[in-house]
Amino acid sequence: MSPHDAGYPDAGGPDASNRDAANPVADLPANVDDAVWMAKAVEIGEAVRMWTSPNPWVGALVVGKSRSGQSDVPDVWTGATAPPGGAHAEAAALAAAGTNARGATVYVTLEPCSHHGRTPPCADALVDAGVARVVVGVVDPDAKVAGRGIEKLREAGIQVDVGVSSNAVESSLAPYLKHRREGRPWVVLKLAGTLDGRIAAPDGSSKWITGPEARADAHGLRAASDAIVVGAGTVRADDPALTVRDAPGRDPLRIVLGAPGSVDPASKVHPAHFHDGSLADLLDEMGSRGILQLLVEGGARVAGEFQRQGLVDQYTFYFAPALMGGDDGIAMFAGPGAKSMSSIMRGRIVSVRRLGSDLRVDLLAPERCGQPED
Ligand SMILES: NC(=O)c1ccc[n+]([C@@H]2O[C@H](COP(=O)([O-])OP(=O)(O)OC[C@H]3O[C@@H](n4cnc5c(N)ncnc54)[C@H](OP(=O)(O)O)[C@@H]3O)[C@@H](O)[C@H]2O)c1
Repeated sequence: MSPHDAGYPDAGGPDASNRDAANPVADLPANVDDAVWMAKAVEIGEAVRMWTSPNPWVGALVVGKSRSGQSDVPDVWTGATAPPGGAHAEAAALAAAGTNARGATVYVTLEPCSHHGRTPPCADALVDAGVARVVVGVVDPDAKVAGRGIEKLREAGIQVDVGVSSNAVESSLAPYLKHRREGRPWVVLKLAGTLDGRIAAPDGSSKWITGPEARADAHGLRAASDAIVVGAGTVRADDPALTVRDAPGRDPLRIVLGAPGSVDPASKVHPAHFHDGSLADLLDEMGSRGILQLLVEGGARVAGEFQRQGLVDQYTFYFAPALMGGDDGIAMFAGPGAKSMSSIMRGRIVSVRRLGSDLRVDLLAPERCGQPED
């Protein structure tokens, strides 16, 4: 599994029905390295991605010695973050392991918490369980943790190794990490178009450019997002409901850019919030409300504004095997773009997948491409 397959919202993650989330580690021998266990922890966290927000979707493993003592295959217990108010991943894995956690190694994607929130501190639970070693993917940038969980474990004499598979974990938890570091949500711009880059015909119609598999996948993207924003123009043209229907998960908060009176009160988007101010203010407000991932679903003017203001972290394009065949259809981005080749935006393609007869291409914005490729 490449870290990028595991890492980007909904890229084979939460709705991947072919994954054996209940027992994803059954056949790994004791001598596999830390990166393999951490990849499994990422996978376990990804499987609950659409249920945990505003908490991060953490995965954890307790890897103990074979209880029979006769096998090379260790005993493993897993845990993932429960919906808000429920157990954190480490607590769930420790509960599953019971007394078998004594002397075991714990793999966890995010630093264990050290404070009392809705649940008691996971660092204390790990100390009480008597684990010997904790392997952490990334330090939790939340001001309430920020290294204190690791410190607590080390003070209790537990060996702690930090930064194992950190690129894969950073990718998986990107929305949470951005929110805690920058106070704003991770912004995903999603557009469905023809191969020649048109999102609607000259008459404004866009239903349906892509096929059922791509549309179901896009519902998974909605479920993995806490809020969706569209322009008033899209509401007027398409009357979208913006709910999650073809995938498991919760309906996101719906936000329309424009004045409340700019769309028909009978539009399917209701109940929706309206935002008529700057996009920067919108992101600040979303951040303060604990929105980790904001999905921008168009249309062209809104996409152009987010793009010009450099507010997009991830682009998710669905391409149909179709051509509009002229320049009178609606382009993906309205308004002025790059003036010359020296100023075009170049990001990094992190995933390309075939969905039925369509393609999904995920592109990271340049400022999110900092991590080296594994
Ligand atoms: N294929 C796809 O993925 C896809 C997705 C979405 C839409 N579409 C198509 O795109 C077309 C609609 O696109 P559009 O460009 O006409 O409309 P739009 O981008 O959806 O909405 C633009 C409108 O949003 C309001 N607005 C408020 N604040 C804004 C801001 N900061 N930046 C931009 N807009 C802001 C303005 O409404 P007021 O005019 O009321 O002030 C503006 O006219 C339709 O044909 C639709 O079918 C295709």
